[in-house]
Amino acid sequence: MSEPFRIGLLGHGTVGSAFEALLADRAAEIERVTGLAPELTGVLTRSRGDVDEILAASDLVVEVMGGLDPARDHVLRAMRAGKHVVTANKQLLSRHGEELWAAAREHGVQLRFEAAVAGVVPVVRVLAESLAAAHVDRIHGIVNGTTNFILTRMAETGATYADALAEAQALGYAEADSTEDVNGKDAAAKMAILARLAFRAPVHLDDVQYEGIEQITAHDMEYARDLGLGLKLIGTAERLDGGLSVRVHPAFLYGGHPLASVNGPFNAVTIESEAITEITLSGPGAGGPQTASAVLGDVISAMIPPASLPAARETLALVADVTSAFYLHLEVADRPGVLAQIAQLLGLQGASIRSMVQKGMGENARLVIVTHPILESKFYAAVELIAGLDFMRSRPRAIRVIDEDFYV
Ligand SMILES: NC(=O)c1ccc[n+]([C@@H]2O[C@H](COP(=O)([O-])OP(=O)(O)OC[C@H]3O[C@@H](n4cnc5c(N)ncnc54)[C@H](OP(=O)(O)O)[C@@H]3O)[C@@H](O)[C@H]2O)c1
Repeated sequence: MSEPFRIGLLGHGTVGSAFEALLADRAAEIERVTGLAPELTGVLTRSRGDVDEILAASDLVVEVMGGLDPARDHVLRAMRAGKHVVTANKQLLSRHGEELWAAAREHGVQLRFEAAVAGVVPVVRVLAESLAAAHVDRIHGIVNGTTNFILTRMAETGATYADALAEAQALGYAEADSTEDVNGKDAAAKMAILARLAFRAPVHLDDVQYEGIEQITAHDMEYARDLGLGLKLIGTAERLDGGLSVRVHPAFLYGGHPLASVNGPFNAVTIESEAITEITLSGPGAGGPQTASAVLGDVISAMIPPASLPAARETLALVADVTSAFYLHLEVADRPGVLAQIAQLLGLQGASIRSMVQKGMGENARLVIVTHPILESKFYAAVELIAGLDFMRSRPRAIRVIDEDFYV
């Protein structure tokens, strides 16, 4: 008879119930591999279970409740009582990660969180373990499946943002309240966690600049096709000017970029470093069984050898103003001299035009310009000046373009 390994389950919704089913299915195999017999010793929901009894009866606690309170308190209490913790909670880690990792170190327990970023895609393990010796320079990620599904549908079918969102909700790829998906905050939380892992500097959700996809129109998709670009909600974490920039925003990608072909509800993360060149991991970013698989993988790892996240050792200043190429969408009166004035204002700030598409609309014209990389503050200064020109028919809209010559 193997020794038991006792697991307490906090939360029994989409992920928690899938975890219970998967654990029952794989228990015999896990016992064969680890020499310990996993067993569920208690389940907590709003109407069921007692957290004190579950903590007392467990070697490890799986937290799949979500939210900050009482999840933070339960996780801290578990670790202080010497229990390992596996969590899928990106909100919690992106806000209270340092406190939680410190508690794990102090009490000599493991805090594992593969499912908190990109679902079953094993990016946490790769950054924390496989690439522990690599000096990571940059991470790009599609880390929100809902927005990637919406943008894919808009690109493939010409659907409006509202229609694609409704379709995502009908198919279960988006929650009824998908505010934090579409405004970029969910992706920002995940990028904060990835940046912490890659750069070993504390990164709080508040340090991440984010924009969502609510302003993207079917026209943007149409022009993108003409220009050979694909539009994604991209999270970036990179070393820059001796500091660190972590941000989320819609961005155009050239066809050759490894993230350009990641479609539908899939997630993918590209890790760039001189030592490894570039690694891309992709797969399902959510779903009960998929997320439960990542959670159970963490449980099995915790059953074998000890591992913990080292203390943050770098202090990196946050860099707010970064260099980017831009897609600039303008609606203008169709008359001579317009393009020259726009080009002049861009040129005065140092922005040069890489490509351009113009389409007539009666007395007006739509002008889409893709620039070469320029400091964002300078680009937006030019945009403000352009916005004030008398021939402008609506506010200019700008979306960043990620260059195709990523790390080589
Ligand atoms: N769903 C996914 O595909 C996915 C993917 C990656 C990560 N995650 C993360 O996994 C976690 C769980 O997500 P989920 O989709 O499984 O959520 P869910 O379906 O809403 O389930 C949450 C569970 O936690 C319980 N719970 C919530 N607040 C509680 C409280 N105050 N006291 C006791 N129990 C409480 C709920 O109890 P009741 O049953 O009584 O309501 C429910 O059983 C979240 O952190 C989420 O971000 C989810």
